[in-house]
Amino acid sequence: PRKIIIDTDPGQDDAFAILFALGSPAELEVIGITTVGGNVPLALTSKNALKVVELAGRADVPVHAGCPAPMVRKLITAEYVHGETGLDGADLPEPVTQLQSEHAVNYLVRTIMEAPEGELTVCTLGPMTNLAMAMTMEPRIVRRLREVVLMGGGFFQGGNATPAAEFNIFVDPHAAHKVFDSGVPVTMAGIDCTYTALMTPEWLDRLRATGSRAAVEAANLADFYRQYGTHKFETPARPIHDACVTGYLLAPHIYEQRQCAVTVDIVSPETIGMTVVDWWHVTGRARNCNVLRRIDPAPFFELMLERISALP
Ligand code: BDR
Ligand code: CA
Repeated sequence: PRKIIIDTDPGQDDAFAILFALGSPAELEVIGITTVGGNVPLALTSKNALKVVELAGRADVPVHAGCPAPMVRKLITAEYVHGETGLDGADLPEPVTQLQSEHAVNYLVRTIMEAPEGELTVCTLGPMTNLAMAMTMEPRIVRRLREVVLMGGGFFQGGNATPAAEFNIFVDPHAAHKVFDSGVPVTMAGIDCTYTALMTPEWLDRLRATGSRAAVEAANLADFYRQYGTHKFETPARPIHDACVTGYLLAPHIYEQRQCAVTVDIVSPETIGMTVVDWWHVTGRARNCNVLRRIDPAPFFELMLERISALP
């Protein structure tokens, strides 16, 4: 199986991404989880990550808490989407597992340096602070990584945090800029892509009906999460952003993709945090990013249903 580290700020959609990955052990080995301040403050995202691994019956997956705030700016959170806890909607028990004592940034540096070159993939599902800090601390990790697969950004859809910027990139634009500019191979599941796989109430009914506890609690999380977005989606269906990262790792062929030069705006007051995608290659700059543009939703949701319901 492909070895991945999931860097995350759970978040209901983060929980889906993690459960989807943990339900796919033949293809993906989640060697560790790192947490970051994002949707809610770090203390909550860390606790939530522990709740999710315990829900999956995988308390053996180490969870390392990372940076509480972005590299330069102040933390902006999104309780208006995810609720006060970050995981509103499901009543998950207080975790009994402890966080690891090693800081997430140290863990990333150590683990990536110890692994064979080209082996590890880091998946970021929140602000990219931890990975950018790790690259700052030990630049040699860039050459050792196989790939970074991230949920963040967008181009044709504009932004969801500002007219130009998607939330994860907007919260820590400097971190995203550092990673995109580093030379590491990047695959970006931005909102152009995530808005093409909308989760329907009918699918959630099917997920719940599988009866596995993980599936039922995931559906409960989604019921809360679905309340947000009535101002932009005409149907009750909603994107499940971060899960698109896991879907890509498992089934890249169901994604439309294009290699592009992508950079992140870190200077303009109106567009800071925008991922500027050179879709038509007009700059001639090196194509540093595999931009995911569209998902075939049917196989995506079939696979996610199968994998989350395979958990206890
Ligand atoms: C992203 O922002 C967060 O609120 C979600 O968890 C997802 O990672 C979507 O813009
Ligand atoms: Ca997230």
